[in-house]
Amino acid sequence: MAGAGTALLGGCVSRAGAVTDVDRILSVSLGQAEDHPSYGALLDFGERLAAATDNRWGVRVYANNSLGDQQETVQLVSDGAIDMAVISGTQIENSSPRFLPMNVPGVFDDMDHQNRVMLDDSIVGELFTSLEPDMRLTVLGGFTQGSRHLYTAPGPIESPDDLSGLKIRVQESKIFLDLINAMGGVPTPMAYSEVYTGLQAGVLDGAENNEISYVTQRHYEVATHYTLTNHLIGFDFFLANTDLLEEMGPEDSRALRETFTETQNAFVEIWRQETEKATEQMLERGVEIHEPDPEAFAPIIEETGYAILQDEADIAMYEAIRAASEEAP
Ligand code: GCU
Repeated sequence: MAGAGTALLGGCVSRAGAVTDVDRILSVSLGQAEDHPSYGALLDFGERLAAATDNRWGVRVYANNSLGDQQETVQLVSDGAIDMAVISGTQIENSSPRFLPMNVPGVFDDMDHQNRVMLDDSIVGELFTSLEPDMRLTVLGGFTQGSRHLYTAPGPIESPDDLSGLKIRVQESKIFLDLINAMGGVPTPMAYSEVYTGLQAGVLDGAENNEISYVTQRHYEVATHYTLTNHLIGFDFFLANTDLLEEMGPEDSRALRETFTETQNAFVEIWRQETEKATEQMLERGVEIHEPDPEAFAPIIEETGYAILQDEADIAMYEAIRAASEEAP
């Protein structure tokens, strides 16, 4: 039973209007609140999985980091204490630098390019199994984070000068440290769950994230200037414990992969629609949305992105991703 430490025997996974009786419930850790689209998407995945396996398997989603912050849950999935988790690319990069090119500003043209790459075995196949031998972690794909932007409490950000001296929360990752430094701010690494209080207490002057996280984490209450810097398109990887997948057997683990891919594909469109809704909510709540001159940040962002690549393997991965772009020459 190694690896399935928390798989609960028998049970009922329910949400309004849908109840699934399954033999085994898999635990999934998520850092987002229940109104973030990844929560609904994981429930959708659970329903598809139950249907595809004759109710042998289902999932229970633990939202709001209730099983631990992302960096901690990577280890818990590796140990088999949690079955699966959604982990930001930047955190998985801390376990393996091979994931770094996926987090580089400018590597993806848009979410469709990103999704195509993340489902292309010829590009990501080896990478997604690379943590299996040492950490017993298998990457099954994941969810787009859309474009990330900057938001601040003191005032609007039109140029790098406006960011001077401002403490901007970043994920615990070298890419974000380099990026915010280059953009003119003072990067301040902190866990996602602590950002609201950091902004409220004035320990932070700002942070950066997509519209949906900004709204669902209620950061608009404590930082009202949202600046469309579009500095990178992030990705949340979906990790499973490798022993669990082996224990499920080839048929059920294939069903798990296939049903997750269906959910992942549907997510891109959901993300577009939810981003529009989040933007409306921001405007209704008095957030000021700023569009800086594209020349103010874009060249700095692009330059920092490429400089982050460490070695030949990074450059090869970066180029394979760029070659899958429809804009690629
Ligand atoms: C997004 C992303 C999360 C990540 C968070 C952060 O919300 O989806 O996985 O943890 O950004 O900035 O930490």
